[in-house]
Amino acid sequence: MTLVIIPTYNERQSLPETLRRTRAAVPEADVLVVDDASPDGTGTWAEGVAGHDRQVHVLHRTSKDGLGRAYVAGFGWGLARGYDRLVEMDADGSHHPEDLPRLLAASSADVGLVIGSRWVPGGATENWPLSRQLLSRGANLYANALIGFGVRDATAGFRVFRAATLRRIDLAGVNSQGYCFQVDMTRRVHELGERIVEVPITFTERVQGQSKMSRAIVAEALWRTTAWGAERRTRQCRERVSQALRRRS
Ligand code: GDD
Ligand code: MN
Repeated sequence: MTLVIIPTYNERQSLPETLRRTRAAVPEADVLVVDDASPDGTGTWAEGVAGHDRQVHVLHRTSKDGLGRAYVAGFGWGLARGYDRLVEMDADGSHHPEDLPRLLAASSADVGLVIGSRWVPGGATENWPLSRQLLSRGANLYANALIGFGVRDATAGFRVFRAATLRRIDLAGVNSQGYCFQVDMTRRVHELGERIVEVPITFTERVQGQSKMSRAIVAEALWRTTAWGAERRTRQCRERVSQALRRRS
């Protein structure tokens, strides 16, 4: 059983088409919209759909509290109901629901995380401003240099998690609020020693509504990634010291 989780904040214009395409592309999958009390009525609209489609659900949160927190809430909802695959997908059409069967096919039993990747051969972006492409490339270079997980698109928001993998992660301890949540989860799956597979996708810039990317989101990503890198370094040093001590004794 698969659950496609779609976080929304003011996506009233985009969500209907994304939802329709998702239901058509993976009719067997359930969908959970996680709405942060969107002032434009996205949550109310989604509630209407859930009223006549038993495979569509809505989780309402009381205020805009970040992409990371929305997903943690969505994962909790899905794990409590026994889904075995939990999917992350944006509401604005940037991720093509038609790619879902390919992503799900890559999610075999020995793969903890499948990432729909813009930065592997065959992956691409369409109409994404150069500034955003550079930001994404830069963020991935920085994260790889510090964390060393060898993932080309660690900030990507189109992914499939195995429920068993999510259960091994302390979700309550995930504090990332903004888009660095994606790097945080990638890092945690990597630390578990589980396989991460990148599948090429084309990311198409939204045509309606606005991105919620902000300076605060970039700042949080920068300081948290730096802290994760430092944490890893400290751990490696400690391990080396204890190995050396063991060799001596
Ligand atoms: N519930 C909730 N709460 N949803 C949110 C919030 C929030 O605070 N912030 C953003 N979202 C939702 C949006 O409504 C959309 O469905 C999705 O999260 C992605 O937000 P965008 O604002 O469209 O992101 P983007 O296009 O700028 O960024 C894309 O690239 C990032 C960097 O690679 C996305 O793919 C991100 O997931 C990705 O990290
Ligand atoms: Mn977007």
